[in-house]
Amino acid sequence: MFDYEDNRPLILKNVSFSLRGGQKVGIIGRTGSGKSSTVQAILQMINIKGGRILIDNVDLATLAGSVVREQIITLTQDPFLFPSSIRSNIDPLGTYNDEDISVALEKVKLWDILCNKVGGNNPDTKDVLDTCIDAGFLSHGQRQLFCLARAILKPGKVLILDEPTSSVDAKTDAQMQGVIRNEFGGHTIIMIAHRLSSLLDFDHILMLDQGSLVETGHPTELLDDPSSRFAKMYYGSTGK
Ligand SMILES: Nc1ncnc2c1ncn2[C@@H]1O[C@H](COP(=O)(O)OP(=O)(O)OP(=O)(O)O)[C@@H](O)[C@H]1O
Ligand SMILES: [Mg+2]
Repeated sequence: MFDYEDNRPLILKNVSFSLRGGQKVGIIGRTGSGKSSTVQAILQMINIKGGRILIDNVDLATLAGSVVREQIITLTQDPFLFPSSIRSNIDPLGTYNDEDISVALEKVKLWDILCNKVGGNNPDTKDVLDTCIDAGFLSHGQRQLFCLARAILKPGKVLILDEPTSSVDAKTDAQMQGVIRNEFGGHTIIMIAHRLSSLLDFDHILMLDQGSLVETGHPTELLDDPSSRFAKMYYGSTGK
């Protein structure tokens, strides 16, 4: 389907699946199996040699990559904040009002933390949002929550997450999983997860191996099938 350089073996091949709007799908597989490459292909970030990716019957190859990426909400392992105000980090295009932004930050339980850090007694919302932050202002987990608040604000019906909780603590992971379910219940979600347990309430699992789709199914049905690779991986990781 695609390779990173000409004349190299294809990284993804035989990856074919379709999702209904609103479905929640988990992509799993060992390191190097092609999980990130699959979502990068959807986001038109890599060179696709064959095959098609359609959303709402539109072939994504017919659109500019930047247009595709504007429409799809993404969250990766690397929470990116730049040295500027809280407002311009969460709302770079200046689209939202202070109330929308503070509500999104409340939903990820960061608003009070930000108010405390800015200081003062009951600081003004505008003053909090205009505070400049640098790389060390928030911890890694807090930065990831910040990016989740940014995702909540973004329009679009498709959310793609590439191991968003891989380097946050278990408490932040649980909090993020709760927010994802509450705030994106009607969205189509494609999530690469390193904790398989976070996919058990999803609708569908896609397992990749060496760039190929090798198993698909409903997570609890796969767990009930002793020959399933997902079940082996899950019980291997939980020690059950
Ligand atoms: N920029 C790149 N240039 C060349 N090869 C790459 C590049 N990125 C990934 N690959 C290769 O593509 C294959 C699939 O990598 P990919 O990152 O999609 O795997 P993954 O399943 O996301 O792994 P992980 O669990 O480690 O994140 C690997 O063999 C990897 O070495
Ligand atoms: Mg990856």
